[in-house]
This record gives sequence, C-alpha cells and structure tokens, in this order.
Amino acid sequence: TQKKTVLDIRARKNSDTPITMLTAYDYPWALLVDRAGIDIILVGDSLGMVVLGYEDTVSVTMSEMLHHVRAVTRVVESAVVVADMPFGSYNVSAEKAVENANRMMKEGRADCIKLEGGKNMAPVVAAIVQAGIPVQGHIGLTPQTASALGGFRVQGKSAEAAQALIDDARALEDAGCFSLILEAIPAPIAKLVTEAVSIPTIGIGAGIDCDGQVLVTHDMVGLFDRFTPKFVRQYANISETISSAIGAYKSDVENRRFPEEKHSFTMKADELDKIRD
Ligand code: KIV
Ligand code: NA
Repeated sequence: TQKKTVLDIRARKNSDTPITMLTAYDYPWALLVDRAGIDIILVGDSLGMVVLGYEDTVSVTMSEMLHHVRAVTRVVESAVVVADMPFGSYNVSAEKAVENANRMMKEGRADCIKLEGGKNMAPVVAAIVQAGIPVQGHIGLTPQTASALGGFRVQGKSAEAAQALIDDARALEDAGCFSLILEAIPAPIAKLVTEAVSIPTIGIGAGIDCDGQVLVTHDMVGLFDRFTPKFVRQYANISETISSAIGAYKSDVENRRFPEEKHSFTMKADELDKIRD
C-alpha cells in the first residue's frame, strides 16, 4: 500500500470524491479503518470520552495521547495519521506548542497534528508549521473550549459569528494549515467557509458541501452510548453484538458448555498414568 501524505490531502480541494476521515485510538481499530481505505485517521482527544471515560476532553494529557498515537501509527500503512493536541498542550505559548507538536512527531510518529482555534491560534499554527510540522485547524464548535463557548452548541448562527468563522478559516490558511475541520456549524456557512479558502475543509455536523467528512468511529459504529450527536449516522450497533457475545460466554461457562474438547489440551495416556500413580 502507498502511504498517503498531507500533500495528497491538500490536493483534494474541490475534488469530485470527498475526503474520508475517522478516528481510531488503538491497534485493532486503526487496522480496520486503514484497511477500509479511509484517507485520514485522527487520534482525537475524543479518546478521553469514548475510551477513557472522562466527562469531556479537557483532562486528556499529552502522555495519554502519545500512548494511543503510538498504537495507531504502529499499524497504519495507508492513511494520514493526525495527532490531536490536547487542551493545555498548545495554549501556553508558541514555544511550548512546538515542543508538544514535536513529541507527537518524534514519539508518536504522527504525520501531522491538529489543534482547535481560529485567528487567536494563528501565530501558534504558524510557529508549528515553520518547525516543519503540518497542521490541521479545527473551528466552529471546539470541544476543548466548550466552557468559553457556553456549552456544546452549534456555532456561527448569526451573520456576525458566521463572518468570524470565515475570518478564522482565512487566518488559519494564511498561517499554513493544510486543511480545516469544521464542527457543528450551519451547512450554508460551512459552504461559504469552504469557498473562502483554498485548503480542504472536513466537516462534522457541517453539511454536505465540505471537501470531506469526519466522524468519531465509536459514535458511528454504536460503541459509545452516553449520547449521540444529531450529526452522527449510526452504521452499526456493535455494542449490541458485543453484549450478546459476552452474555453467551457467561451462560456457556456457567452451564459447562464451554470449553469443549476442541478447546482443551490433552497429553499421552502413559504420562498421565505416571502422575496419577
Ligand atoms: O477528537 C476528535 O475526535 C475530533 C473530531 C470530532 C474532529 O476532534
Ligand atoms: Na478533538
């Protein structure tokens, strides 16, 4: 398999076939997503919620992220792997941000990083890009700063807020981002943002007119049941499949239907006789 690069993604602006992106946080999931030919695998800080059981993404640390980025990059052969910068790893100073982005590349072996924020983060993005690390931007609903946004809600609904999103997108493009995540913004605004920049936009809850789409895999396969955002299409309910497997195992063990002979090891009869004597 040919490894995809950020330049391949960059070149998909306005292409007929939208860019596909999903999250993965460990070996088996990265393998499945990569084998399916998905263009970009995000090791998102959604890790905190869908794998580590936190209430939100704010508590996720660099070392937690690196642990999972390494697991994913060990197995991926084709997709571009994006390492999500956790809250606190890039909002202190551009210098600290570059240091932490370096760790995602050196220790995590990621292909690039992603961070949340618009205009305000443009200098940080520029510093990381100048350090030789490709950056994906993320605007609209930015879960790490949901507290400042007043909660998890659709962004850019007023003309003023929509214009601010367009300005943010342009600032991030100028700072050197190779693509942008647009999260939870009205579809017509996502279309305007997409038209306003020459880098691909990848939407989550941002309508059909983005250059690509991303979802959290655990939402999409029904493996996270705390809540399902409006913008998710659930393609499977693997929680159900897994629960029934676990239930069947429990019942088989309790009723001595498992293990069978074919699952058991045997030994030569004379050896067995010796130990019985
Ligand atoms: O962490 C994540 O999964 C994300 C996506 C929702 C884009 O940032
Ligand atoms: Na994220």
